[in-house]
Amino acid sequence: MKPKEYMDREERYGAHNYHPLPVVLDRGDGVYVWDIEGRRYFDFLSAYSAVNQGHCHPRIVKALTDQAQKLALTSRAFYNSTLGEYEEYVTKYFGYDKVLPMNTGAEGDETALKLCRKWAYKVKGIPENKAKIIACEGNFHGRTITIISMSTDPDARNDFGPYTPGFEIIPYNDLNALKKALEDPDVAGFLVEPIQGEAGVYVPDEGYLKEAYALCKKHNVLFIADEVQTGIARTGKLLACDHEGVRPDVLILGKALSGGAYPISAVLADDEIMLTIKPGEHGSTFGGNPVAAKVAIEALQVVKDEKLAENAARLGGIFREELRNIPSDRIELVRGKGLLNAAVIRPVAGKTAWDVCLEMKDRGLIAKPTHDHIIRFAPPLVINEEQLYEALEIIRKTFENMH
Ligand SMILES: Cc1ncc(COP(=O)(O)O)c(C=O)c1O
Repeated sequence: MKPKEYMDREERYGAHNYHPLPVVLDRGDGVYVWDIEGRRYFDFLSAYSAVNQGHCHPRIVKALTDQAQKLALTSRAFYNSTLGEYEEYVTKYFGYDKVLPMNTGAEGDETALKLCRKWAYKVKGIPENKAKIIACEGNFHGRTITIISMSTDPDARNDFGPYTPGFEIIPYNDLNALKKALEDPDVAGFLVEPIQGEAGVYVPDEGYLKEAYALCKKHNVLFIADEVQTGIARTGKLLACDHEGVRPDVLILGKALSGGAYPISAVLADDEIMLTIKPGEHGSTFGGNPVAAKVAIEALQVVKDEKLAENAARLGGIFREELRNIPSDRIELVRGKGLLNAAVIRPVAGKTAWDVCLEMKDRGLIAKPTHDHIIRFAPPLVINEEQLYEALEIIRKTFENMH
């Protein structure tokens, strides 16, 4: 089959809820993917930061296949021989009392919201059905009805109402707005991305997270960090909150928790919060299944053994500097942390970030625009310096050619 036939088949039989770049991928290894005609590309999206450990990492693939052949799913109706091992591993790894395992990032966020509300009524003492959660403009926490009820993106929200109540939206990176919102005694939680990834890699001012955390503490409000995209070494530390020494009350992880091999998410919190939820009040058939348990342990161990946070910090610095040095008036701004970076593109002669991505694809590097004018650059964290410079050369030539 030709590439067009693959694309047409997806178009014909699949819902049109994505607009993919016209490339049909077939194979992956480390920082590379290959299309069905054998052409190789640098993957600078990494499945939205899910593939931090690189495509088909042999240790993660082995953990997956070994466990899949032994026992894949029991549901939580019974104990199994792997879940406790994972729970102990992940809670010690991140330093929390307990974990609640789920599958997707959106489920992780939903879980955190439910935990926060339960805590509000059982511990904080907010009157029934009054609990409020503060979220930020430009947020992206997933696609469920409740989550899009917090969204300020018309594409995410429009025609999906009625919306779930109980949220207050404040500007991102605005401590005064947070201060004001926290005056309401019915506020139970503040949900925040340490860097807004989908919005276009918006990095807040230094000190924002630390001060926001302190304000939450002052008002007995849970600081809930959505590190689904920023977590697991992506920004140059294990968690993006680590840059400011903030330990979230509730931590949401997803994506790279599995090394991109499997849908795995998790919510971590201490007993005061986690034990407010009792049997039957929350769960998931697949959450914490034996394959997920083994895959997540291996994926997290790879991050440590291969020093991926250190690599992201070092190469991220080089990447931003080199990107800023590209002599092109089309690059308006470069921002990011570690290997979560973005370039804001100035459209010239009707050519947008999408056109830049098409050109980069033809030269052997795939990335995707977020919104019309921003390109996110987020390669697998196993990339080495030589590969990074090779990728930068592709980006440089692309911009040179687009004058
Ligand atoms: C910060 C953040 N939270 C949640 C999600 C949703 O994750 P999923 O697509 O696995 O539901 C995403 C996905 O991009 C994300 O970036």
